[in-house]
Amino acid sequence: MTVGKTADVSPAGTAHADRTGADRTGAAASGEVAVRVSGLTKRYGEIEAVNGIDFEVMRGETFGFLGPNGAGKSTTIKILCTLAEPTSGTASVAGYDVMAKRDAVRRNIGLVFQDTTLDTYLTGTQNLQFHADLYAVPKKAVAPRMRQVLEMVGLWDRRDSLVSTYSGGMQRRLEIARGLLHAPRVLFLDEPTVGLDPQTRSSIWEYINDLKDREDITIFLTTHYMDEAENCDRIAIIDHGKIVAIDTPEALKASVGQDRVQIHTADDAAAIAALADTFGISAAVHDGAVTFSVASGEQFVPRLFAEFTTAIQSVSVSRPSLDDVFMSYTGKTIRDAEASGTDRMRTMVNAWRRR
Ligand SMILES: Nc1ncnc2c1ncn2[C@@H]1O[C@H](COP(=O)(O)OP(=O)(O)OP(=O)(O)O)[C@@H](O)[C@H]1O
Ligand SMILES: [Mg+2]
Repeated sequence: MTVGKTADVSPAGTAHADRTGADRTGAAASGEVAVRVSGLTKRYGEIEAVNGIDFEVMRGETFGFLGPNGAGKSTTIKILCTLAEPTSGTASVAGYDVMAKRDAVRRNIGLVFQDTTLDTYLTGTQNLQFHADLYAVPKKAVAPRMRQVLEMVGLWDRRDSLVSTYSGGMQRRLEIARGLLHAPRVLFLDEPTVGLDPQTRSSIWEYINDLKDREDITIFLTTHYMDEAENCDRIAIIDHGKIVAIDTPEALKASVGQDRVQIHTADDAAAIAALADTFGISAAVHDGAVTFSVASGEQFVPRLFAEFTTAIQSVSVSRPSLDDVFMSYTGKTIRDAEASGTDRMRTMVNAWRRR
């Protein structure tokens, strides 16, 4: 199992500003925008890893970056976290320009990768203490903050156990706790649950959603799991370094096609005629059911029951999934993209450590 790991972009050597004080002015200056990207490109030789992207993430949003392998997701995150410089274009995080205000950006972000950087021979508490020192979190704030984040991820009782005795899911939770210890405004999660079992993934999402209720935090994540993408307020689909779609999950699904409604009736011929008369819908029998498409099945079904005179025995609505959306915009299935970018991430973490 791949164990989780936080690669923190620690502003080593820089004083940690009081999170409630002057340090917040950057975000205030930029209104409600947490991440702003404009005309961003990143070229590696011949490769246009990021090819002119523009988007904004609003404060408090959970924003998902989806795309096939090599689409430019991690490269974009690297630039936003000041781990790589753009070839052209601009970006700001929490109101700070990623090029001009690198230290301020770093103070305001947390970063969780799929590849662990926990010290497994230390306890949970010791790992967090080390991180607090690195970020120069004010001494008085450390203990209560540590308790808060450890309770949030359900590890308070295990805080004094060696991390080597934690399960993979517990390690990932500790990393998320660590990423949050210094109260970042923007939390970057690059494939945060890759390799974890579905139960652990869903419990991590409970923590993330719970966190959003408690903290003023913006979440920017990449994932290859469609069920995770469903947790996002908005999703950008990136392919070959360009954003090909950006919207809410619902709107993206709606853009792909209509919902399919199937009804079983006592008299199919009468039902088809009535659908045409009452709603102007053309239906046909498929797989033994009267089948038709509507923009929003959820909204249509109540009307159907209210206005239909033919007896309906059962009804089913199937919607385009985010898989359909991904396929429609990238020509690939999300399965093709599931293999993780672990090696590239490791390179990135090492690059950070050398700085
Ligand atoms: N340091 C580098 N040097 C050269 N090329 C790079 C470098 N980092 C990324 N690339 C290239 O840039 C492109 C985008 O890579 P990136 O890691 O951003 O993709 P990704 O969307 O995160 O993919 P994955 O889903 O596999 O994680 C790829 O073609 C990749 O090979
Ligand atoms: Mg990647």
